[in-house]
Amino acid sequence: MFNLILFGPPGSGKGTQSENLIAKYGLKHLSTGDLLRSEIAQQTALGIEAKKVMDKGELVPDEVVIGMISSAIDNNETVKGFLFDGFPRTAAQAEALDKLLDLKKSSIAVMLALEVGEEELVKRLMKRGETSGRSDDTNESVIRARITEYHNKTTAVADYYKQFDKVTMIKGEGSIDDIFNSLSSEIDSRI
Ligand code: AP5
Repeated sequence: MFNLILFGPPGSGKGTQSENLIAKYGLKHLSTGDLLRSEIAQQTALGIEAKKVMDKGELVPDEVVIGMISSAIDNNETVKGFLFDGFPRTAAQAEALDKLLDLKKSSIAVMLALEVGEEELVKRLMKRGETSGRSDDTNESVIRARITEYHNKTTAVADYYKQFDKVTMIKGEGSIDDIFNSLSSEIDSRI
């Protein structure tokens, strides 16, 4: 299995690039944001609780997202590998993911981390908020709260994988095609 983490702050292009990468490499896309929005759309108890947290720009509790990822891994036994998008987002999630993959005799091959400046992130998300219907994109203070959560809790995930020499930084500003080519080169050198 080839397992990849696409990492970066809100609006850095993880979802955009994931779509192209899964098409090229045949990986299973696991986005905790998408899984949570699906729970919200179905109005499950989990979704109703998660929405309250997401609308404030804060992170959903670790046990909730780890449970979702654990089920998703178990339900996809035969895939070539996973592309994790928006997960892990805390050091505890990273440790849990390593344990889950270890049970499958697998591991993370690489974390590709998209680097984008804060004002560009805010600009992209405000623009997307005009049409996306995502309640966490419509308010600049919520967008900035998401970025603050990233700095306070999520950058620790890159530090966690750096100790195993698994992190490569990628310039996340520029054309979508150029960024895709940079990501592909890194994957091709490891796959
Ligand atoms: P999640 O759904 O993961 O959202 P996010 O991290 O905030 O990221 P986005 O989807 O907003 O951005 P992206 O990096 O995917 O960029 P995109 O490609 O869409 O999380 C939402 C919430 O769920 C969290 O706040 C949290 O509450 C909860 N959650 C999720 N996972 C969790 C976890 N593991 N633990 C706890 N809580 C969790 O691009 C953004 C925009 O920019 C698009 O409009 C796109 O068209 C545009 N764009 C992309 N690339 C470019 C480019 N190169 N140039 C110009 N524009 C571009």
